[in-house]
Amino acid sequence: MGDKKVEETTEAQIAVHWQEEGYYYPSTKFIGQANLTDPAVYDRFSLDNFPDCFTEYAKMLDWYKPWNTVLDTSDAPCWKWFKGGLINASYNCIDRHLEKNKNKTAIHFVPEPESERVDHITYQELYVRVNEFAALLRDFAGLKRGDRVTVHMPMTAELAITMLACARLGVIHSVVFGGFSPNACADRIVDSQSRVLISMDAYYRSGTLLNHKINADDAVKIAKNGGQVVDKVLVWQRYPGKSSTETPMVAGRDFFVNEELKNYYGKRIEPEKMLAEDPLFLMYTSGTTGKPKGCQHSTGGYLAYVAGTSKYIQDIHPEDVYWCMADIGWITGHSYIVYGPLALCASSVIYEGVPTYPDAGRSWRIAQELDVNIFHTAPTAIRALRKIGPDEPAKYNYHFKHMTTVGEPIEPEVWKWYQREVGKGEAAIVDTWWQTENGGFLCSTVPGIKPMKPGSAGPGVPGIHPIIYDENGHEVTKAGIAGNICIQNPWPGQFQTIWGDRDRFVETYFARYCKDPKSKDWRDWPYLAGDAATKSDDGYYRILGRIDDVINVSGHRLGTKEIESAALVVNEVAEAAVVPVAHDIKGKVPDLYIALKPGYEATEALAQKISDAICEQIGKIAKPRKVWLVPDMPKTRSGKIMRRVLGAISNNKDVGDVMTLANPEVVVIIKEMVTGK
Ligand code: WT7
Repeated sequence: MGDKKVEETTEAQIAVHWQEEGYYYPSTKFIGQANLTDPAVYDRFSLDNFPDCFTEYAKMLDWYKPWNTVLDTSDAPCWKWFKGGLINASYNCIDRHLEKNKNKTAIHFVPEPESERVDHITYQELYVRVNEFAALLRDFAGLKRGDRVTVHMPMTAELAITMLACARLGVIHSVVFGGFSPNACADRIVDSQSRVLISMDAYYRSGTLLNHKINADDAVKIAKNGGQVVDKVLVWQRYPGKSSTETPMVAGRDFFVNEELKNYYGKRIEPEKMLAEDPLFLMYTSGTTGKPKGCQHSTGGYLAYVAGTSKYIQDIHPEDVYWCMADIGWITGHSYIVYGPLALCASSVIYEGVPTYPDAGRSWRIAQELDVNIFHTAPTAIRALRKIGPDEPAKYNYHFKHMTTVGEPIEPEVWKWYQREVGKGEAAIVDTWWQTENGGFLCSTVPGIKPMKPGSAGPGVPGIHPIIYDENGHEVTKAGIAGNICIQNPWPGQFQTIWGDRDRFVETYFARYCKDPKSKDWRDWPYLAGDAATKSDDGYYRILGRIDDVINVSGHRLGTKEIESAALVVNEVAEAAVVPVAHDIKGKVPDLYIALKPGYEATEALAQKISDAICEQIGKIAKPRKVWLVPDMPKTRSGKIMRRVLGAISNNKDVGDVMTLANPEVVVIIKEMVTGK
């Protein structure tokens, strides 16, 4: 237990600490046009008005049948929002806009080669393409309501079309980040029991046309060994005939979507009338064990929450051109590229490639070209753009009214560059703190009401009531003292459970601070977010970092256990320990410590082999900064690896008192190896 506490604060301890900053105020021009400027919203969404306050969001949607219970708590803590209501997400993101806005752009797709034209897909065209693909999914792939389908695709309009076609049929989509390896994809196929995999032949990234379909072949093979047979692989063609190599197809299993679609031209599919609590999608995320968690998101509650927060926090108006740079393969892309903006009938930008290729001006050229006025990205991208092209934004004629940062803490210096250079001093900025599990924002300022404070996410958004608890379950009330941030109340965007593992859901997120495990009262079930945070006197929260074994690399969550298990697959490896190291662009990167089995020699080649194994099993995103082959791990007397000590060494910090360890002498050796001191 003593050890555990020390381990748990590791990430927070080495988090960046900075001074409390002053306020920045949004311009009168921004406030003049903002969707939400009345501070009474905080009273409207107070706990006294809970849960009915959230009907304000549900009313932004079209329902086939209204709900009869706003919040059903009978199966606590698996909350059911808008019980009794019938709704379809695809209908809400497309069909209902057609009468007045069929000719408006729903999606601007920006290909990486700048010589290629941007594809402007109108709501009418989106309607046609989603219907035809839904017909194919139903009649050719045999998918029906409640089935799961795994989608492993790059950033293209076809990815959004695929999701909306699934939603139309009530098929639960599980989108796997395109950069994830076949192994990671296979794990998700098996866990979600998908018999259909949707892929794409190729895509551009940093000037190279990557063959993506080969990943599907490996994923299907690995999934089969894991007990899940994929009988159909549907392959979209991003560049027909232009893949970097041939796209090998397995007869009877693999089909080009573009070919098969010809049989469905003109087909229309009635949207399924889904229960509000029917799952809309699964999104896998990393946790404390090696096995990723399938966060199950609902249809009605989720859509209401992302529509409401898109309107109030993102300040999206139907006439806006909104660009969120995230990948659709993460929750940010689901909520704030696809479902939120389209539910509000905005124009949403999807772009291929990376912000820094071919040069640091690409993002600003896109913004100028499409006249983007709302921009949404992560600190890792902001840091990279600031480093390689600090003066680029000024060279382009674009004007953002609003900007977002999400995914990790942003250093005040970086925030200020974002505000001054990217936002040209004109944009209102929101720092939004939330998680895959949450569906939408938890803490942020409402941009037309609250001032911004660099480095702080802000108070809970309307209807979200955070609380900081100490280790013993007492509320931390003193400003500036760190503790575990929890949310006191449920909200409609909250995930419903971990797919197929309700016990893990309860254990991970509620057990710690649950007041009574038998209770059906939501007040007894505070949600544990897994982050350390402080609150300041003005009620703004500052997020310090994870309290569990999760590393945030470029705003993406990686479980240290996941990386360690990948390393252990290499035969020579006896023990593996991963620690986060501060990185000036990516926020954190993993450092990997390895103890070899007896009889094996520590060589550069072996270190490389271990690093390759991790990229192969998880993806390049998990590549360690360095693989340290050490003679032994620093251990407690009970045999537990002291990651805190390794973390301190990797970050060039004081290792503290190590004399109580079983093998303090090894700390000296490792320290010298890593720091040269
Ligand atoms: C973790 C969730 C949903 C957004 C994308 C990441 C960290 C997220 C912030 C922020 C400081 C942040 C937290 C959180 N995080 N946003 N604005 N400031 N930290 O989703 O992969 O589920 O990761 O990202 O540590 O727990 P995710």
